[in-house]
Amino acid sequence: MILGDARPIGLFDSGVGGLTVVREVMKVMPGERIIYFGDTARVPYGTKSSRVVQGFALQDARLLMQYDVKLIVVACHTASAVARDLLGKTLPLPVLGVIEPGVRAALRATRNGRIGVIGTRGTISSGTYRRLIAAADPEIRAYGRPCPLFVPLAEEGWVDGSVTREVARTYLAPLVRRKVDTLILGCTHYPLLKEIIRSVMGPDIRLIDSAEETAGAILRTLRDRGIENLSGSRPEHRFMVSDIPHQFRRVGERFLGCRLESLSRIDLDSVVP
Ligand code: DGL
Repeated sequence: MILGDARPIGLFDSGVGGLTVVREVMKVMPGERIIYFGDTARVPYGTKSSRVVQGFALQDARLLMQYDVKLIVVACHTASAVARDLLGKTLPLPVLGVIEPGVRAALRATRNGRIGVIGTRGTISSGTYRRLIAAADPEIRAYGRPCPLFVPLAEEGWVDGSVTREVARTYLAPLVRRKVDTLILGCTHYPLLKEIIRSVMGPDIRLIDSAEETAGAILRTLRDRGIENLSGSRPEHRFMVSDIPHQFRRVGERFLGCRLESLSRIDLDSVVP
């Protein structure tokens, strides 16, 4: 009997946001074991310089490698934008980010060749989305817009209502004016705000949920490399964070869409110097 590769998939993020990616991975690959690390003691990454985020990302990935993961997913757009290539070159295992899958889906979706990208300041100012879109098709126009307030609004659970609507209108107005027909949700938190974003952008907008696209890319990578878990047994996941802030479990379970089993705090500096 072939049982495939039972080693876990490792995912990391600056905090709670990457749980939106885990949620999609669990849906698409219910048999895969997950080890998640959220760097809640150092969140946010989106406001920090590329150099600092690269250092954090390397340390986060090295932590996951101690759990014999078969694949690392950078489940954070900011870290993917500035550190995925570095990790891919440095580490001896496949490293997937959340940006390329969203870009591929947006290129397929757009009809008028005008794509909007929203994310943290770090993600948008890195220029990674623009670069990848231009490299794939120089005719396509990409318009980036940082929307930093969406992160605390999603964590507070303010996913509708007048305050969030006003914030969304203000942030998204330039993209409406540019007549983008496709919008990449380039931040872990934004899928929670999909409905309000759609209502501001209009019913015809094609929203690209990077978490969904990334889950598809992970599955293809596991299959291509022959490292899927085919055992059929129910996996036991593990969630680690560098701090357990107030409300973490409540917010995390909302992002994940189910109970956060086996949650523990680890002291990153003592585990990965
Ligand atoms: N996870 C981050 C991202 O997707 C958002 C939160 C942060 O700034 O750390 O870019």
